Amino acid sequence: MKIKVINGPNLNMLGIREPDVYGKLTYKDLVEFVEGVCAEKGVQCSVYQSNHEGDIVTEIQNCYGEYDGVVINPAAYTHTSVAILDALKAVSIPTAEVHLSEVSEREQFRHFSYVSLYAEKVITGKGFDGYKEAVEYLVNKYNK
Ligand code: DQA
Repeated sequence: MKIKVINGPNLNMLGIREPDVYGKLTYKDLVEFVEGVCAEKGVQCSVYQSNHEGDIVTEIQNCYGEYDGVVINPAAYTHTSVAILDALKAVSIPTAEVHLSEVSEREQFRHFSYVSLYAEKVITGKGFDGYKEAVEYLVNKYNK
């Protein structure tokens, strides 16, 4: 099984960015955590991060025929991007959406997610463990 993990804008700033919200661990720590989870499950994974909406759309398109699952934290694009939603619908790969923080307890504008209109599993407020849960969800679905 192959999983693509996609992280949106400013997630490369983890560790520096609003540590009271996102914690002190860095983006490198997150990548190592996700790679470790995937290795444990015998899943091949590739982790991608971009600050650019169009690049994320292209990365999703490139998953077509190549990946069996997508874990995505679209970050701020969660709340704005019809293009990312449409790309996920276009490739039609099982997708789990992750947010490190509990978005439902933050500003009103973070309460709506375009990506949730497609994602079959949404995990919020669990920090890095949310990625683990997302990978587990996709692996269980794939093995059913
Ligand atoms: C986030 C939540 C978003 O609202 C925010 O724009 C982010 C990160 C999270 O992981 O909690 O950049 O997706």
